[in-house]
Amino acid sequence: MNQTPPNSPTTWDDAPLRALMDHIVETHHALCRRELPRLDALLKAAVERHGRRHPELRHIHALFSKVSRDLHMHLLKEEETLFPYVAQLEESVRRNLPVSWPRFGSLESPVRLLVEDHDQTDEELKLIRRLTNNFTPPAGFAEEDADCAVLFDALKAFDRDMQEHIRAENDLLFPRAVALEEAACAGEKASSDLIR
Ligand SMILES: [Fe+2]
Ligand SMILES: [Fe+2]
Repeated sequence: MNQTPPNSPTTWDDAPLRALMDHIVETHHALCRRELPRLDALLKAAVERHGRRHPELRHIHALFSKVSRDLHMHLLKEEETLFPYVAQLEESVRRNLPVSWPRFGSLESPVRLLVEDHDQTDEELKLIRRLTNNFTPPAGFAEEDADCAVLFDALKAFDRDMQEHIRAENDLLFPRAVALEEAACAGEKASSDLIR
């Protein structure tokens, strides 16, 4: 499988969508599942220890918990509905077989909803970036609590990975999948016109 990260569009522009989706699941989705509960627990502990002196931590924790809940649902929507359909679509086109249209009609509506989820998560992460002063621990904070230093670094790494994850889907996967579906749809219409 192609291991080049999806922020290298020259490579992923031509790779099979199946490979791109496998890459997204194995890297970005795996990181979400690993880091969301860990960071949530670290934030909860930070609130318990420092929430009185640093009330902004409560706000950050509340926001992060929401991001975490929303992302768990979002990943399931992608992995259980959209990605399998795109993989099947790509395989049908590759093998010149009739496309089995999904119960959600076409990709347009689920893709729009997933992009809205991305926008929402992006806004919430922007707010966390602002509240943490771009993931800079308050003065003296890291020295007095090693877990808090780990927390700010890990939040920054998570934020960076989410930006890459969203770009890989919004800018690469979704437009290519929609274009493939449109091409397959046009092909089917042409064949049904010939039958009539
Ligand atoms: Fe995703
Ligand atoms: Fe997504």
